[in-house]
Amino acid sequence: MSQRASDSAATSCAVYADLQRSLAGLLAGEHDLIANAANFTALVYHTLPDLNWAGCYFLRGEELVLGPFQGRPACVRIAMGRGVCGTAALRRSSVLVPDVHQFPDHIACDLASRSELVVPLLEGNRLIGVFDLDSPRPNRFDAADQAGIEAAVRLLVQACRSGNSI
Ligand code: SME
Repeated sequence: MSQRASDSAATSCAVYADLQRSLAGLLAGEHDLIANAANFTALVYHTLPDLNWAGCYFLRGEELVLGPFQGRPACVRIAMGRGVCGTAALRRSSVLVPDVHQFPDHIACDLASRSELVVPLLEGNRLIGVFDLDSPRPNRFDAADQAGIEAAVRLLVQACRSGNSI
């Protein structure tokens, strides 16, 4: 690994460690899914650089429906298996897209988006929804971002376990 790549990995690691600490405080004692998802989204959006959209879609029947988000207004309903969000939901695993123009079924809600990371919200095996991050910069997200967001999302789901609508 070059010096520059190792510096950037260390920075990314520190950013996600800080995010985990802030989230633990922000979510402590609150179980409501909508309230926690709203604060979660706002914290991520204002903590990570180079984002133009961050938000949740929740599983409602056979489709994903828009939840709390930061950024421009977005499409409200996404069918399972469609777009990056529906693909992550169907696979129940994260999908990292370095260049959205190369993802054949990408749904363009904001034309500024150039790369995307979608992480499923899972309580055990049960799919609750997905958390979606968009960046105007191609190749914005890497494996460290994926691991950091997956850990953050686990905190969100844990906090809401005994709350409403989950
Ligand atoms: N690009 C997503 C749609 C949601 S927006 O980016 C907010 C997709 O392809 O599923």
